[in-house]
Amino acid sequence: MADTGTYSVDSIVVGRSARMRAVFDFVRVIGDSDSSVLVTGETGTGKEMIANLIHQSSSRRHKPFVPVSCAILSETLIESELFGHERGAFTGAIKDRPGRFEMAHGGTIFLDDIDDVPLSMQVKLLRVLQNRTIERLGGSRVIAIDVRVVTGSKKDLRQMVAEGKFREDLYYRLNVIPIVLPPLRERREDIPMLVEHFIKRYFKRRGEDPRPISPAVVQAFMRYPWPGNVRELENACERIAQTCTCETVRIGCVPSTVLFHKYAEEQQPIVETHAHPSSVSLDDRLKEVETNLISWALKVSGGNKSKAAELLQIKRSTLGDRIKKLSLDHLAEEVAD
Ligand SMILES: Nc1ncnc2c1ncn2[C@@H]1O[C@H](COP(=O)(O)OP(=O)(O)O)[C@@H](O)[C@H]1O
Ligand SMILES: [Mg+2]
Repeated sequence: MADTGTYSVDSIVVGRSARMRAVFDFVRVIGDSDSSVLVTGETGTGKEMIANLIHQSSSRRHKPFVPVSCAILSETLIESELFGHERGAFTGAIKDRPGRFEMAHGGTIFLDDIDDVPLSMQVKLLRVLQNRTIERLGGSRVIAIDVRVVTGSKKDLRQMVAEGKFREDLYYRLNVIPIVLPPLRERREDIPMLVEHFIKRYFKRRGEDPRPISPAVVQAFMRYPWPGNVRELENACERIAQTCTCETVRIGCVPSTVLFHKYAEEQQPIVETHAHPSSVSLDDRLKEVETNLISWALKVSGGNKSKAAELLQIKRSTLGDRIKKLSLDHLAEEVAD
């Protein structure tokens, strides 16, 4: 693996954290075996990408890589999708169609969301994996298949086995080689590279030159917990490339969901409550509250006035006036936004 932290066949797989490096190294080791691999990880952690990397690292790389999600399909649909059907097998089966297993012949099939496959279907899958043959729905021919099977699961299948929701025999057959992908929040070191990689990629796709990225942008990305993992981060970067018109990608270009996340957590605005004294200066007290809230909004939005105004639900120009009045200019970003 290259020391730059970017490892891949065509440099699309990014990661420098120890845990991802360990995964990349492991993929190289197991690439050429024909054993089944079970990739476990939350949604968006890169399961399909790793499955593809396994395929690319194997001698099957010149044959097809066929990903298929088992999530949304009904049972008949999964069956027809995986094994194919002959004309007239069911209503709507107007012509013969090969299934994904047949399409993957000689290559690798990636069965994603295996945790969503119902028990009855699990039996059929097990039989296929044991016999290495399939029969199309409504067909009578037995077709031999030579495929490497990589599966993806967002749940712990061992736990599902314990709960009686997943067949133990199938679990052992699929989980010959386990790979666990950590969620992005457990490998934040990967975030700066990923941000750079995706922002560059999406500007390029728009036919534009890459632009420098302000460190504040990366910081905002580092603070956010990324429940949707790399997929969510990628989408945020795509949005930036679509909407940013600045020469440098700045904090103001970061989607509000990412930026204002802290809003909900530790960075609540501080508004002090005072015991009731015998007299009080309303003006002084209002000024104090206003100073606190504006400082807070500027802090959370990285000094960006438009974002801060959005947070405070006032116009940007109003915020500008108040910043001046309260002498808070030092908290606002210097570059005009
Ligand atoms: N380490 C990574 N480097 C580059 N792109 C990644 C990485 N991990 C995930 N991605 C991208 O994030 C998106 C989601 O990844 P995917 O493999 O579909 O996740 P999953 O199957 O776990 O839901 C894809 O566009 C993928 O290319
Ligand atoms: Mg997936």
